Amino acid sequence: MTVKVENITEIKGFLQELKEYSSYDLCEYSDSSIYRRIKKILKDHKLSLDQLIAKTKTDSLFIENIIQEITVNTTEFFRDPEVWRELYQNFYPTLRNKKYINIWHAGCSSGQEVYSNLILLNELDLLDKSNVIATDLNSKVLKVAKSGKYDKKENQEYFENFNAVLNREGNGSDILFEKYFEDGVNSNCVEVKSFLRKQSDFQQHDLVKEEMNNHAKFDIIFCRNVLIYFNSALQTKILKQFHNKLTNGGILVLGNHEGLNGFFKTKFIKDGPVFIKNNTFHFQF
Ligand SMILES: C[S@@+](CC[C@H](N)C(=O)[O-])C[C@H]1O[C@@H](n2cnc3c(N)ncnc32)[C@H](O)[C@@H]1O
Repeated sequence: MTVKVENITEIKGFLQELKEYSSYDLCEYSDSSIYRRIKKILKDHKLSLDQLIAKTKTDSLFIENIIQEITVNTTEFFRDPEVWRELYQNFYPTLRNKKYINIWHAGCSSGQEVYSNLILLNELDLLDKSNVIATDLNSKVLKVAKSGKYDKKENQEYFENFNAVLNREGNGSDILFEKYFEDGVNSNCVEVKSFLRKQSDFQQHDLVKEEMNNHAKFDIIFCRNVLIYFNSALQTKILKQFHNKLTNGGILVLGNHEGLNGFFKTKFIKDGPVFIKNNTFHFQF
């Protein structure tokens, strides 16, 4: 989409007001995605940009709703199954000798990515020694994540990824879906079993505003399909934080359409679908 300069300038004005009147700073989100989302909000709420700005200054509940609408929360179980198969078969087995495994899902949305990961860890007997923290800006999706309840129809095709990752055709030892999900026959939803839900800590956290300070270094950071909504300066800032927060040899897992620019070429080695931190360099801010 071509962004008309005068419109994006006005929208940047709105983002400045939002920053001033709320705790949200979306000023460095990418122009094209912000432009699309704000245009949709104006249409859906039948507002002009001036009216949107006026409401933002006076109505904090409205701001929360707008944030839900601006952030893109699309997610699925075992999104990109080939990535999860690689983690399951090649990377996770190398973690067996670690005493603890610290994992951060940054931008976890409604939790499907987190539960997919917990299932793999359990299958490899790594769950008990894993500390998993999962964060997102959006409080509404975090509520769903904590509940572990998912609409059957909406998620049906994604549940099929379960077999694509965990079960090889014809090996005769299939892992059953029922091991991890309660599937009420008469209900419209499936529920993640409580032993998995207990293993993750879902928290509200804004990647733009706060560093993850009070936590040990991570062996794995997932930040899939989040950076794609940020401009390149903000992507670089957040990637520097991830580099600092990873152990040496730690793994960064990005989305299939996300990568690292030349600046990070000497700081990470790409290995299949993951980026491995390969030095102890610490970025100063
Ligand atoms: C497209 S979803 C990706 C979900 C999941 N990682 C996946 O790949 O399936 C992007 C998520 O990033 C979250 N997000 C956007 N800006 C954020 C920020 N500043 N801090 C934390 N999370 C953010 C959104 O709320 C949304 O849930």
